[in-house]
Amino acid sequence: MEELVIPKNISSDEEGYKLLLKQLRSLLVKEEPELSNLANLTAAVKQTFKKIIWVGFYLFDGEKLYVGPFQGKVACSIIKMNEGVCGKAASTRETIIVPDVNKFEGHIACDEDSKSEIVVPIIKKDDSLFGVLDLDSAEYDSFNDTDKKNLEEICNFLVDGIIH
Ligand code: SME
Repeated sequence: MEELVIPKNISSDEEGYKLLLKQLRSLLVKEEPELSNLANLTAAVKQTFKKIIWVGFYLFDGEKLYVGPFQGKVACSIIKMNEGVCGKAASTRETIIVPDVNKFEGHIACDEDSKSEIVVPIIKKDDSLFGVLDLDSAEYDSFNDTDKKNLEEICNFLVDGIIH
């Protein structure tokens, strides 16, 4: 399957995630290149949710994070561990929801339109850090437990079947 079908009149984020997850399970294929799967995932997330202005991966090279496949404006290439929201989520291995980026000490502003953010760490089966999935919105307070739960499920799906 190479087409994502998301109706224009989705009633809620929960419904959007349900449709998204169902289709990701056929859109992403383990036998295909990892990079292609990650790239398509970012496009699928951006297509599903109007609130997202930036979605992408920062990947861990054993020392620092570097930008991977994404959709949105040009972003910083390198983020050190423990720096910014991404570096913090990668270091603590905990999902971070930032309702107002101006109030997060050390937030790295890649897109000045970004007002709120969520970052989900991706931990491989051998317990090593793969990277993080980062989503940005142009509105304050855009992310909540629904996003956290569903994005963590998406990352678990990646770890279970897509990431090598
Ligand atoms: N805001 C992030 C940097 C990445 S951009 O949002 C794409 C951070 O503070 O880590």
